[in-house]
Amino acid sequence: MATVKFDRVFKVYANGQTAIKDLSLEIADGEFLVFVGPSGCGKSTALRMLAGLEDISAGKILIDDRIVNDKTPQQRNIAMVFQNYALYPHMSVRQNLEFPLRMLKLSKQQIDALVAEAAEKLGLIELMERKPKQLSGGQRQRVAMGRAIVRDPAVFLMDEPLSNLDAKMRSQIRTEITTLQQRMNATMVYVTHDQVEAMTMGDRVAVMRSGKLQQVSSPQDLYDRPTNIFVAGFIGSPGMNIFRSRLAKDESGNLTLDVGGQFLTISAATLDRYRELELYLNRDLLVGLRPEAFSIAPIDAANSITVTISTVELLGHETIVYATAPIDKIDTDEAASGQAGSQGNNSILIARIAAARTIQAGDRLVLAIDTSKLYLFSIDGEYLD
Ligand SMILES: Nc1ncnc2c1ncn2[C@@H]1O[C@H](COP(=O)(O)OP(=O)(O)OP(=O)(O)O)[C@@H](O)[C@H]1O
Ligand SMILES: [Mg+2]
Repeated sequence: MATVKFDRVFKVYANGQTAIKDLSLEIADGEFLVFVGPSGCGKSTALRMLAGLEDISAGKILIDDRIVNDKTPQQRNIAMVFQNYALYPHMSVRQNLEFPLRMLKLSKQQIDALVAEAAEKLGLIELMERKPKQLSGGQRQRVAMGRAIVRDPAVFLMDEPLSNLDAKMRSQIRTEITTLQQRMNATMVYVTHDQVEAMTMGDRVAVMRSGKLQQVSSPQDLYDRPTNIFVAGFIGSPGMNIFRSRLAKDESGNLTLDVGGQFLTISAATLDRYRELELYLNRDLLVGLRPEAFSIAPIDAANSITVTISTVELLGHETIVYATAPIDKIDTDEAASGQAGSQGNNSILIARIAAARTIQAGDRLVLAIDTSKLYLFSIDGEYLD
């Protein structure tokens, strides 16, 4: 297996489109790294440059400390599983697995041994004599992976390999891929636009936006300490509520935040996380609250906000509430692109609360805010450390 390094890599396509801007990233041996971000952010481009399918406009890509910029895909010893995994329809599973090894001109004995090993790892033994059309989508996916691993590649690349599967199959194969990666101890670079997939599979997740790497970190760290409001809004579902506020001090000397004319007292736990917060006294900043920071509260509860329900989603174990609230919410995607994303002084707040069957659209509701779960950003969207 191998390490991978992107060193100040750029990609400008022939039509002038810049797809990757100054990407630097090191991937450890045996690591599962996920590229995630919205459509067009450059995920596939990064992967294809690593694979050798796309040339590099500037910078270096290294595999095992060797520069591979001018190496062919074959010389890089990588395996790639695409979104549209193509199996040879007229060949059995066994023949599909043998194919890449035949191309390497290995002996029959060597081929048999490698195929048996891959089939065992992927649970394909029972399916070896079937044709692809006699397999389920998930089984076909496994064969495609088998075909990639028989060659024992240094690095495994996957570009949205699950996007053709239904929700149940996705989560099943997701687990299979993670288990397989751990068992093989393979270096894996995986591309998805689905943040849930990224968070559940990656050792580390690289969040991309418009060709720029925003943050690379463990899933928990991305959730706890998003570097800016784009990452904050992208990670977590439903997304974080981010709105403008102002930092003030009440008569007892506590730091407070103005939320629609009501004042939240910032908890000690939050103060502990943001040690420089006093610098922002009497200044505007952005406050982030994840949907899970709210709970239904009595009318006179401290640190609460009164909202009007517009939509209720009953999920059984919990309820998602969309409600009009007196806050000036920021659209994180637009804000991060430099346009003011303000929605005005009555924005839709999203809260995730304990299963509640009785609330409905039009109801007024008091939501308590857990002020130990506040995220704070400067007005230009950077996380306040
Ligand atoms: N061959 C090409 N020529 C010109 N521009 C391209 C080419 N391929 C991709 N692009 C552009 O480069 C940018 C990045 O594309 P890329 O395919 O890497 O995005 P992505 O993150 O994989 O998106 P998706 O989630 O939709 O697959 C996009 O703006 C895209 O339109
Ligand atoms: Mg893509």
